[in-house]
Amino acid sequence: MTLNFSRRRLLTVAAAMPVIAAIRPGLAAPSMTVYRTPTCGCCLKWVASMRSAGLGASLVNVDQSELNEIKASNGITSGLASCHTALVDGYVIEGHVPAADILRLLAERPAARGLAVPGMPIGSPGMEVGDRREPFDTLLVQADGQSSVFAEHHRR
Ligand code: CU
Ligand code: CU
Repeated sequence: MTLNFSRRRLLTVAAAMPVIAAIRPGLAAPSMTVYRTPTCGCCLKWVASMRSAGLGASLVNVDQSELNEIKASNGITSGLASCHTALVDGYVIEGHVPAADILRLLAERPAARGLAVPGMPIGSPGMEVGDRREPFDTLLVQADGQSSVFAEHHRR
């Protein structure tokens, strides 16, 4: 084993530590507030998948125009929008974002608005349809409205 290799290993372990801290039982991750319309069922399925990954979530029912205002005031334009909008620890989480991406966001804490999975990709958490898996990206939404790919899903 070269010195380079073990240094790199140490850095990898160090980089993973905040994630471990975030999901360690008893050290609760911050709870999300999830805004959704009462008739939407996929939001409930998404929340269930968040909870099973250790992310707390409380639901707030709003009507569609209130929800649109919440999206707009948090930098979620129509091109980024999905059904539900969550707020957690200073970040916005739009749509069917996988729990692992949220945990990574909360561990890395980039200067950004938050994460978005635009639309409703089939096979994303809460949008399961048999074993169908539409490729999708989780986007990092910047304060200036630009977005970049934060994580790719089902793209193999
Ligand atoms: Cu949905
Ligand atoms: Cu929904």
